[in-house]
Amino acid sequence: MSEYDLDLEEDVEERPFNKEHFLRILSYTRPYPKTVAAATALTLTSIIIGLVEPLMFRSALDQGIHAQNWRVLGIILAGILGLRILALVVSRAQIKTTNYLGQKLLFDLRQELFEHVERLPFSFFDRRSAGKIISRITNDVNHIGNLAASGVINVASQMVSLVGIIAIMMTLHWRMAILSFTTIPFLALVLTKLRWALQSAWGDTRKAVAEINAHLNETIQGLQVIQAFGREEANDVKFDKANRKFFSAYMRAIRLDQAFWPLADLVGAAGTCIVIWYGAKEYLEGRVTLGLMLAFTNYLGKFWAPISTFSRVWSQILSAMASAERVFGILDLKTEMEESKEILEEKAEGPAAEAAIMPPIQGRVEFDHVTFGYKSREPVLHDVSFTVNPGETIALVGPTGAGKTTIINLLARFYLPTEGRVLVDGYDLMTVDLESYRKQIGMVLQDTFIFSGTIMDNLRFGKLDATQEEIERAVEAVRAKDFIEQMPGGYMAEIKERGTNLSSGQRQLLAFARAILANPRILILDEATSSIDPETERLIQDAMKILLKGRTSFIIAHRLSTVRAADRIMVIEDGKIVEQGTHDELVRLKGKYAALYEAQFKKQEHHVAAEGNVSAGT
Ligand SMILES: Nc1ncnc2c1ncn2[C@@H]1O[C@H](COP(=O)(O)OP(=O)(O)O)[C@@H](O)[C@H]1O
Ligand SMILES: [Mg+2]
Repeated sequence: MSEYDLDLEEDVEERPFNKEHFLRILSYTRPYPKTVAAATALTLTSIIIGLVEPLMFRSALDQGIHAQNWRVLGIILAGILGLRILALVVSRAQIKTTNYLGQKLLFDLRQELFEHVERLPFSFFDRRSAGKIISRITNDVNHIGNLAASGVINVASQMVSLVGIIAIMMTLHWRMAILSFTTIPFLALVLTKLRWALQSAWGDTRKAVAEINAHLNETIQGLQVIQAFGREEANDVKFDKANRKFFSAYMRAIRLDQAFWPLADLVGAAGTCIVIWYGAKEYLEGRVTLGLMLAFTNYLGKFWAPISTFSRVWSQILSAMASAERVFGILDLKTEMEESKEILEEKAEGPAAEAAIMPPIQGRVEFDHVTFGYKSREPVLHDVSFTVNPGETIALVGPTGAGKTTIINLLARFYLPTEGRVLVDGYDLMTVDLESYRKQIGMVLQDTFIFSGTIMDNLRFGKLDATQEEIERAVEAVRAKDFIEQMPGGYMAEIKERGTNLSSGQRQLLAFARAILANPRILILDEATSSIDPETERLIQDAMKILLKGRTSFIIAHRLSTVRAADRIMVIEDGKIVEQGTHDELVRLKGKYAALYEAQFKKQEHHVAAEGNVSAGT
């Protein structure tokens, strides 16, 4: 059921027009009917002003100059100026309104997408890179927003303008109008051809930028390795290639862009010539006035704007279609909550079922014939069954890739088993209210995530209303007091993104303090002490004991002392439990664990013993 086979990795630039998506994009304007109305009215007004102007020029020529009536000429010219001022005001208001509308839509869509992505099941993130997801929330949303706000209003208004121009020209002199329309196909042809080429050139620049960014990102992330291996020059060559690609694509786009205006002018000039050639005869025979001819050439000049807008917005529409497909694709994925609701409904065969609120957890954990794979046809766990009693401490050992973390992931309900059930206190995790369950479990992982902000913020993450005293107690218990107090600012020291200004051991200590504060009913430690030195680890053993006491705990560790202290050890291999029991039982069994102990743990024991450290004793 958590199978997302949407082809989201395919970054196509354009998609055929899709009415459903188009209407869905437009539906984002629904909360702003007034703004939409205002934007439409303003755009229409500025178009109407544009339509009236040539008629006024015509009157200026015919009723003013030709009739030698200075008063009328004055009035008309003043009118033209007044109209221009009005146009200025209207167009300012129009730009402001459409931008406001556009940004509002972007705001809503971006927020919706962010909140949705944050609540998607883990399996969504297994399949795509962070970069792709980020580009959905930024670029794709922009494409959609632009179209919904300005694109549609523009096209609609420009169509009105086009119809207006044609109607006026036909009324003024229909034969001359039809004659001058013969230039339109050329104009349309030039526009579409050019727009095509231009579009693909801009597409190339965007791809080149993406390539530059990707290479830059990788270089910064891997700079240490590049420098250590002296690979700067080879790396430069790669960058140079992407950089050149951008340069030539950009130059091509600019050349094409510039070609458009002279061509449009040329077609316009041809139209004017036709009008004057034909008009001259009519004028001499007294059938048309000079003013009419002026108005005509003027309207002809206005012809290209709607056509140009239309072809521009059309390509905007196609690229918004591609974006919409991706964005709506994500928005239509079920969140974790929705997914479990669906499971409940399936089970209850009706919409009646409600997720069970998890009461305070006692700590009985049961895996009941659990089979699971991240990809549906490649199981990672095979028919795993075990029961853990409240308060028990379980150590999971086994080779890398055996499935230890996967067991933990299922226990935290980040994933659902393909077959079988995971039960806590008899509650099937599939049917339990997620928030009420997760609130009661705590995790400390190998690669602890520390957020930017202060140390205090990060500690409070586990318990938002923790008092200063509670925090200090937790910090002291994990022996993190010294290093925190030595940092500039102490508890208020700013942590950089991902906690890069802390050592990985320090990050783990903070994570421990965070877990202690949260006081979870089920505790999960996945290689949580892997970056802490043996000395500090020994020091925090006491804190560990406090931490483990009275709650069910799962520990994945490579240190003998930790493994040994567990109530039960489970040896995982190839997604199966191959042995379980206490340390002594397993050593006596002379099986996998005994071999592991010989190969790995015993060394540690000698090592620790040599340091005069006996904490690993039974
Ligand atoms: N998110 C994932 N997507 C696909 N495969 C995964 C994912 N996480 C782990 N695996 C695979 O599942 C197997 C078990 O991994 P894991 O449980 O992390 O092992 P470990 O015992 O080292 O903690 C490995 O073969 C690994 O490649
Ligand atoms: Mg692991």
